[in-house]
Amino acid sequence: RMPILEQCYNLMDFEAVARRVMKKTAWAYYSSGADDEITMRENHSAFHKIWFRPRILHDVEKIDLSTKMLGTKVDIPFYVTATALGKLGNPEGEVVLTRGAKKHNVIQMIPTLASCSFDEIIDAAEGDQVQWLQLYVNKNREITKRIIEHAEKRGCKGLFITVDAPQLGRREKDMRSKFSDVGSNVQDTGGDNVDRSQGAARAISSFIDPALSWKDIPWFLSVTKMPILLKGVQRVEDVIRAISAGVHGVVLSNHGGRQLDFARSGVEVLAEVMPELRRLGLQDKIEIYIDGGVRRATDIIKALCLGATGVGIGRPFLYAMSAYGLPGVDRAMQLLKDEMEMNMRLIGCNTVDQLGPEFVDTRGLSMH
Ligand code: FNR
Repeated sequence: RMPILEQCYNLMDFEAVARRVMKKTAWAYYSSGADDEITMRENHSAFHKIWFRPRILHDVEKIDLSTKMLGTKVDIPFYVTATALGKLGNPEGEVVLTRGAKKHNVIQMIPTLASCSFDEIIDAAEGDQVQWLQLYVNKNREITKRIIEHAEKRGCKGLFITVDAPQLGRREKDMRSKFSDVGSNVQDTGGDNVDRSQGAARAISSFIDPALSWKDIPWFLSVTKMPILLKGVQRVEDVIRAISAGVHGVVLSNHGGRQLDFARSGVEVLAEVMPELRRLGLQDKIEIYIDGGVRRATDIIKALCLGATGVGIGRPFLYAMSAYGLPGVDRAMQLLKDEMEMNMRLIGCNTVDQLGPEFVDTRGLSMH
């Protein structure tokens, strides 16, 4: 028998249920990683190489998980990252995530390749709810410019340009499952010319510009007032270059292990980046986020200790939404809040500002 929602006690439980209830093609698209999926697995297991150095006898009666991301106050330092094709898992699509994000006062990053239209996802937000836009850059920059201008007009508060996908990775699970329905919004955002034999991901991505380069960054900065962040940065040299280029932030990410296999995990890269930025006095010049494999609040806490402003979470909310709809997303987010409150108390920190490198032992990471 299928577990009821109350029997899901952590984010992995949602994955197990989703695997059983989802359509095979949808499961293949959400769960797949590139090639041998070594990076996808490493994303989660990299967190297991970091241990805590809790402090004792610090008054932890009161705990406050709130923080600021790009100027927006959020209840807990994660955001719902952009994941394409929400309707594969739930007939209502990405708006389910919008409602969950509203309930828990966290930010949702809207994907270019959402199944719902961009306006539907914006319209599903309530009051002063904040959303960001993930951008795949079209070979036709007029289309890209229109998307950016429209997002800014509709109140998006951040533009995340995906830089790790000049060509979509080979996700073999996805390629094997015969994929047929890409949805109408995907056609509108440029995903025409669909070759279905290549799986969902490749079918929808032929418009992405592989010629995108650092030379294009001034143009992006000139067409919008939204803060611009590069999503998919994987080494310290590129973080430094991003600072010189004048962008507002980076996401250390390997696209959930769906692009370059053997890319390092975001948290591993973070451990490389922050000491170098501090050495150069650049740590306050840019906001650093990571995503990939975050499944426990301890993962969030570790990332914050190492200097991230926040973390993105992808698949767990897709699985929660696919298995149980909005109540699933709601519970997944609440579980993270409960876990984080407890673990903050156990390591001896009341607020996220107090988290720092002294609370983690990173000697298990391979850079040491
Ligand atoms: C993604 N991701 C992604 N990233 C992006 O920039 N544009 C996109 O369209 C998508 N689409 C997408 C679909 C699916 C099904 C997944 C699982 C992921 C990558 C995503 O933003 C993020 O980097 C990872 O999902 C983070 O890893 P976890 O949390 O899924 O382990």
